[in-house]
Parts: sequence; C-alpha cells; structure tokens
Amino acid sequence: MKLPSLKIGNLTARIPLLQGGMSIRVSTSALAAPVAECGGIGIIGGSGLPAEEIGEDIRKAKTLTNGIIGVNIMYAAMNFYELVMASIEAGVDLIVTGAGFSRDIFKIGKKYNTPIAMIVSSPKLASLAEKLGASAVIVEAKEAGGHLGTDIDLRTLFPMVRKVVQKIPLIAAGGITNGYEMAEMMDKYGADGIQIASRFVLSEECDVSDEFKQTYLNAEKDDIVITSSPVGLPGRAIATPFVKSLARRIDLTAKKCKHLCLRSCDHQYCINERLLAARAGDYENGLFFSGENTYKMKSILPVAEIFRQFVTQAESVYKENCGFAPPAPESC
Ligand SMILES: Cc1cc2nc3c(=O)[nH]c(=O)nc-3n(C[C@H](O)[C@H](O)[C@H](O)COP(=O)(O)O)c2cc1C
Repeated sequence: MKLPSLKIGNLTARIPLLQGGMSIRVSTSALAAPVAECGGIGIIGGSGLPAEEIGEDIRKAKTLTNGIIGVNIMYAAMNFYELVMASIEAGVDLIVTGAGFSRDIFKIGKKYNTPIAMIVSSPKLASLAEKLGASAVIVEAKEAGGHLGTDIDLRTLFPMVRKVVQKIPLIAAGGITNGYEMAEMMDKYGADGIQIASRFVLSEECDVSDEFKQTYLNAEKDDIVITSSPVGLPGRAIATPFVKSLARRIDLTAKKCKHLCLRSCDHQYCINERLLAARAGDYENGLFFSGENTYKMKSILPVAEIFRQFVTQAESVYKENCGFAPPAPESC
C-alpha cells in the first residue's frame, strides 16, 4: 500500500522521510537538496557554523530544488537565535531544533510563518512542545547518532510519546536502516514519518571525505559506542583512537577556546575541531558521530536509490497508518 504524505504545518512532503540534520558540514545543501528532490525533507545541519554560511547554504539548496529544505539548529549553540534568523531570511521551510528547549522559538516561528519541529526524548518535552506550538515532534531514541537525550530504545520510547501527542505529526528517529523498519514504525507504532541520518552519510552525495564513509563501512557492532560530549550530554560515535583516549580519561582539554560555539561547554575537548577532523577523514583524532545500527549498512548509494529502496520495501509491507491514535497493537 502506498505510503501517506507527511504534513508539517503548511508543508507537505510526498514521502514521509526526513533526513536528520548533521553537524558540522555533514548534511549540507549537497545532501539536503537531493533528499528534498526525492520528495523527502532535506535538512542542513546548522549548529557550529557562522550564520552567513548557513544562510548561503540554504539559498544554494533552494536553487537546486523546489522541495522542502529545513535547518537543524541545536539550542545549545551559542549563536542559536542568529542562526535561526539567518535561516528564516534565507527562506528556509522548516526549523528543527533540540538539545535544549527554547520557548521563544515558537513565537519566532509563528511570526515568520515557519513551522518548528522539536526533537525530544521524553513524553514530558513532547507534550510541552505540542502545547507551545510545535508543528511536529521528532522522537529521538537511544539508537540515534550524535547527542543523546535518553537511554531508552525507539520501540519503547515511541509509544510513550505517542500517548501524549495527539494533534501534530510524530516522527520516529534512531537506528532505522531500511524501509521494512520504516513501515513497522508507521504501521505498528503509529509514526507519521521517520527521520534517518546515518544511512545518508553512506550516500554518494553526502559532503564528507571518503575516509569518513569508509570509517562507517568498516564499523562493526562493538565499534559504535557511547562517549561524552562537552555539551554535557552523552553522544553515540565510532570508537576511534580519540574516543578511546577519552574513555581512558587522557587529558584532551581544549586549552584555548577559539570557537565559543556552545552556550555551555565543559572544555573537555573542542567538539567543533573534532567533528571537523572527522569530516576531513582524520580517523585518529576525529569524532565520528554514528547511529547504533550503522554496522548493518555496507554500501554507499545515490540518494535516489536510498529513497527507492526505502519506499519499495516500506510499501511492500505497509498496511495502514494508525494516524494519531495511541498504538493499539491488536488493531494495527
Ligand atoms: C554524523 C551525525 C551528526 C549529527 N548531528 C546532529 C546535529 O547537529 N543536530 C541534531 O539534532 N542531531 C544530529 N544528529 C542526529 C541525527 O539528526 C538523527 O536524528 C539520528 O542520527 C537518527 O538516527 P540514525 O542515524 O540511526 O538514522 C547527528 C547524527 C549523525 C550520525
């Protein structure tokens, strides 16, 4: 059965699939534009970048596609409001935010008629986001890559949030690697769509070094671990020599902070520099954020082929969307 479209505020994505925002410069217009072109929602990772660069990249994406382009900006970013305003001025369609909670963002979204999607990892924050005016909620579980707000798995967390969010679309994120799992999340758990990220790192279009992609391809299950981030949250990443030395509590303190990128940073190391090292393919020193199930994916594919596979697989098993009703396994 055909997958339903995904409506977020005034936007309609033909395919209910968001590409997760990935900082720093992992999901740029090079990835977001083809995702949007395939009918999904392409998201540029905005955190850790100068506002001008984000504005420019959004404008570039908009010249490449008429599809939906969003930006992901962590509330933990020092220049959060500057990035938000630069994105709106550049004509972004959707703002996705998380890693902290801004009440003001909903007022800004309303003023500029830009839908806000909130990433949450608890029913409490999901319910608050809906009350304050979020146009969608993304439920991000412990299988996700990058910063984590929970240690609860997707299939346990999602129903907890589904019970409290009734009126706006609810999107499932964390560890989804194929269309069968997409259909499972929508059919059985009542998700209105999914967000995936790691699968898109392994796309031809993703703008990271070949070494970054090779690090993903080489990863075995046990190589994907929880580490600590200077933001004060746990993060899921590949156990590179840098991540292993963090675990051994070797002093990697960023002695001088050049970036002033986070509102609150424990200076345990410079996350900005480590993420950029990963992007450049520095296996020894880089922080390669990765979802828990990256080890299951062993191919680099064009974005259009990833979409084709997800949609074909999902539609081969998809029965009906459970809509906004809380999941009732016996009826779905
Ligand atoms: C390399 C990488 C960078 C990420 N950066 C961000 C980010 O800047 N902001 C954010 O909210 N989520 C970030 N995430 C999380 C993703 O957007 C997404 O929700 C999550 O990884 C989904 O799980 P999956 O990778 O297993 O599909 C990142 C994930 C990865 C793999």
